[in-house]
Amino acid sequence: MATIDPIEFRNAAGQFMTGVTVVTTLDADGERAGLTANSFTSVSLNPPMVLVCVGHDTSTVEAFKAQNGFVVHVLADAQKDVSMQFAAKGIDRFEGLDVSEGYDGLPVVAGALATFECSTAHVYEGGDHLIFVGQVQRLSTGDADAPALGYFRGRYFTS
Ligand SMILES: Cc1cc2nc3c(=O)[nH]c(=O)nc-3n(C[C@H](O)[C@H](O)[C@H](O)COP(=O)(O)O)c2cc1C
Repeated sequence: MATIDPIEFRNAAGQFMTGVTVVTTLDADGERAGLTANSFTSVSLNPPMVLVCVGHDTSTVEAFKAQNGFVVHVLADAQKDVSMQFAAKGIDRFEGLDVSEGYDGLPVVAGALATFECSTAHVYEGGDHLIFVGQVQRLSTGDADAPALGYFRGRYFTS
């Protein structure tokens, strides 16, 4: 098997420009959890399915494994602080945010360009990440003119 340097791999993958999402869920005790993720992909149109990859060593992966479903929020440029909050360690990531209850009681954060409220359909091993495929049960589309938050070469940018 070829040895690929992880830094080189990260730099190569960083040449792929993405948007930024915040993905929220509920843990086995019904507590809110979430993280910033740019591994979001829409997968299937019929049925509507999306995926997100969550690292095995993250503080949130156990909550995702509880399979209560998840909500993907596509962030607007104005939500850079929300992205940083959901990537920070040792804080309440929901602090100060407008959060409502969505499908199955899942936490929905206000202000996103789009939200996908999902039931967990499949979970696959993906090396040091788990791949969660969700079936979209509800969705919303926000401001069609607002710029999106982007991520490229390890930095945020505006679409
Ligand atoms: C732009 C951006 C994208 C990220 N994408 C992912 C991702 O797709 N999957 C993931 O597991 N972590 C991702 N992270 C890292 C998490 O947001 C978080 O920082 C990480 O889970 C460590 O926090 P924790 O262990 O305290 O939960 C990303 C971080 C940033 C800033």
